[in-house]
Amino acid sequence: MWRRLSVYPIDEEFLEKHRRRVTSIARRVDECIDTVSLYVPDRLSIDSTPGQFLMVWIPGVDEIPLSISYADGGMVGVTVRGIGEATRRLCSFQPGDRIGIRGPLGRGFTVRKGRSLIVGGGIGVAPLRYLVYRLLDIDAEVYVVFGFSDKLHTIFVEEMERLSSGKLIEFHIATEDGSYGFKGTAYDIASSIIREGFDMVYVCGPEALIRKILLLCVEWGIPMEASIEGYMKCGMGICGSCVRGVYRVCRDGPVFDRDKLMEMEEIGLRRRGASGIMEPLI
Ligand SMILES: Cc1cc2nc3c(=O)[nH]c(=O)nc-3n(C[C@H](O)[C@H](O)[C@H](O)COP(=O)(O)OP(=O)(O)OC[C@H]3O[C@@H](n4cnc5c(N)ncnc54)[C@H](O)[C@@H]3O)c2cc1C
Ligand code: FES
Repeated sequence: MWRRLSVYPIDEEFLEKHRRRVTSIARRVDECIDTVSLYVPDRLSIDSTPGQFLMVWIPGVDEIPLSISYADGGMVGVTVRGIGEATRRLCSFQPGDRIGIRGPLGRGFTVRKGRSLIVGGGIGVAPLRYLVYRLLDIDAEVYVVFGFSDKLHTIFVEEMERLSSGKLIEFHIATEDGSYGFKGTAYDIASSIIREGFDMVYVCGPEALIRKILLLCVEWGIPMEASIEGYMKCGMGICGSCVRGVYRVCRDGPVFDRDKLMEMEEIGLRRRGASGIMEPLI
């Protein structure tokens, strides 16, 4: 069925968020062998929602989308895994180095009270870390399941373990090779506890993981939201390069609910690449 893409308003708030702010890195934390968190002072991100992202400009290299992994006390943080030219360059940045940011952009997760299951895989745990803090702030019951390929690629584990000795209800970790925690995937753990009954399931990670959890939530009638990726260029709903189904990920997402994810039949199967051509994900 043919449907028109939405038309978005261009107001003062939109213009302010998209005016690039050049700023200096205030803090850098090495999270694991290929991943760092970088923190910069930013006024606009104070009111961000977990799941929203920034367009991060790496001078002379590129501008790329990165999820907000932390926002508090006038600082915003992103967590980046070095996989290509832009992300590796960013991973080499030190305090004092300059980057540009636009944002916070897109629609984030619905932060609401109740029993929540958070499922993350790989670098997909970045926005979920911010979500955990926001849910704990409103005294939600939070169960967290993170999965990684192996121990060397685990991130935020000590932080979640520290939280689980306080307010966080439960934290589970899986590695595919069994070098840390449960031997298997985040899906293996999540699928065994999802039947305990949750008011909301939040997911971010490889699309194969999102698809499997999505089908499980449909089967069990559980509300679910997932953050997905689209190939982003403008980040403001104009170029169309991030389109998935009838949605522009940069404006309508990157967080979508269960019904919209089901509507996009391609989730976990294929996605548009840099050239705009559909590419298989499996
Ligand atoms: C909403 C959103 C949130 C993201 N959050 C994070 C995060 O918190 N941490 C993190 O490490 N990564 C995140 N990413 C992925 C990150 O943007 C890409 O890894 C990065 O753009 C790769 O650029 P590169 O030059 O290093 O690698 P390249 O070699 O250019 O690309 C490697 C792969 O990254 C993807 N990619 C490249 N450019 C883009 C682009 N402009 N938009 C989307 N995908 C792209 C493509 O699938 C490509 O195959 C996010 C992506 C999106 C869309
Ligand atoms: S990146 Fe979404 S429309 Fe351009």
